[in-house]
Amino acid sequence: MGFSKRLHCLRWNSRKTGLQEAGVAVVKRKGATTRPESIGRVLLAWYARSKRDLPWRASSPDPYAVWVSEIMLQQTQVERVREFFVRFMERFPTVHDLAAAREPTVLKYWEGLGYYRRARQLHAAAKQIVHEHGGEFPRTVEGLRSLPGIGRYTAGAIGSIAFDLATPIVEANSRRVIARLVGHAAPLDGPGGDEPIWEIAAGLVPPRHPGRFNQALMDLGAMICTPKLPLCSRCPLASACVAHQTNRVAAIPAQAKRRPVKQVQETAVVLRHGESVLVERRGPGEWWEGLWDFPRGSGTAAKRGRRLGLVTYSVTHHRIECAVREQIMTRRTTPTKAQRWVKVTSLDALAMTAPGRRIARLVARSGD
Ligand code: ADE
Repeated sequence: MGFSKRLHCLRWNSRKTGLQEAGVAVVKRKGATTRPESIGRVLLAWYARSKRDLPWRASSPDPYAVWVSEIMLQQTQVERVREFFVRFMERFPTVHDLAAAREPTVLKYWEGLGYYRRARQLHAAAKQIVHEHGGEFPRTVEGLRSLPGIGRYTAGAIGSIAFDLATPIVEANSRRVIARLVGHAAPLDGPGGDEPIWEIAAGLVPPRHPGRFNQALMDLGAMICTPKLPLCSRCPLASACVAHQTNRVAAIPAQAKRRPVKQVQETAVVLRHGESVLVERRGPGEWWEGLWDFPRGSGTAAKRGRRLGLVTYSVTHHRIECAVREQIMTRRTTPTKAQRWVKVTSLDALAMTAPGRRIARLVARSGD
């Protein structure tokens, strides 16, 4: 079945996904750009003019670079990823370099991006690619998905961008663009909530330049079809956009109810002996597993010592206020297995949790 027909019968007119009314509304509009080919053409032309200049975008993209950038992009904003990506690729320019690296080195280059499980999986997948696939990335979505940490989204990104597979990718930006384009007003959150969007995206992705098309959707979402105050007057798809045409841009996608934020108070205890401080490695099952931080104290012992400052941070729906206290020791306590005494000047070389790094800065400044 042809590209257009496939989309027509499976997606825009699908009763299952509740899009028929929206589709009909658009088709009736004079001059509307509704056919998937037209959407593809308009979007690719817009992308050629307006795409963001990003260090992992090349005319013939390297699957390794695409993969690293996509995993990083799952962690943080595009602008922040730039510098991490460049630094990471300088240190590990090929999948072979990454596979040969020691885990602490990989984690060190991930520091600041958060969610280190992804870095561990990246490392594990690099080893698999080198040892089980002769250093070559699998060239199918299924093959890519068999690697650690590569799910539907990442496989779609590598497959479409590096291997020209006509496969969709749905992430926060493209999800919003598609929901508005077709007027999909149901909430997208929760298990399976964005399944209809994946189906529509699969029907939209063109056989030629699927990677550019997917990136165009994401760039459009990031630059024009933003969550708040979208720039519809500059959108190349405005005439085809059901949400725009029916004045529902602000209401689509529907916002999920947020979990209430829990306030938590804790104390980080900086035990100091001369130029050394005691650090502790986060254990399995803890947030930031494998990274270094300062011990957390409770009870009266934690209230002793000089207050160095307050570090606030968020983990899922917790908002944590962490008081930092320094206790000067006359001798070094014996560290547990997970602990280590380190020189304050050596803290920089450790892969630390985000709050741990901020506490380390307070410690370094307190000695000035
Ligand atoms: N967000 C995630 N991946 C992206 C990509 N390849 N281009 C633009 N935005 C993105």
